[in-house]
Amino acid sequence: MKRALFYLRLAKEIHYDTYLHSCRVAMLAYKIGKTIELNSHELEQLFLAALLHDIGKTKVGGRILDKPGKLESEEWREIRNHPLYGVELLSHDHQLMSNDVIEGVYAHHEFFNGEGYPRGLKEEDIIVYARMIAIADALDAMTTKRVYRTHQLSFEDAVQEVLRCKETQFDPYICQKITGLIQDEGFETSLLKMRKLCPLQNMN
Ligand SMILES: [Fe+2]
Repeated sequence: MKRALFYLRLAKEIHYDTYLHSCRVAMLAYKIGKTIELNSHELEQLFLAALLHDIGKTKVGGRILDKPGKLESEEWREIRNHPLYGVELLSHDHQLMSNDVIEGVYAHHEFFNGEGYPRGLKEEDIIVYARMIAIADALDAMTTKRVYRTHQLSFEDAVQEVLRCKETQFDPYICQKITGLIQDEGFETSLLKMRKLCPLQNMN
């Protein structure tokens, strides 16, 4: 965890939005992991992988990440390289980061149907942590403002969007398991509260 905070500080210095997004996705992924009844070791691995899932964006840099308007194909390629950049960064820490955490980072943009990137992995070939992070990542992306998308969805609409993409983008089993949790009226409130209270957000 200490090492993960080192990387998180790096994200905070280089790209503040990535840092905030990472904190939120880690909390959301943790909630999802609890619903799937992961054990405490698995929850820790999931949390670390979620916290570091976009760490490779520190190599892409704000000039591309914050560019308003259309990206050139070279810039797109650079963004799509961020899972690999993350692996490159974390692989130096093999003693401290487990293979599962690194694989979770590498595979978080894979699609359940094999149409994701960077390796086009499919179904159970995608490590379960990455399948959960993908859902948390999408929910956070849709419910927060981005440079390239000013339209922000309500949490409810974002959940509907995730459910619409079960079996194509997302693992249908995990979607089914979290439906009840997300439809729980208190969930969004507790998530918003968690976002505000997150100690990582006040990290310096
Ligand atoms: Fe990502």
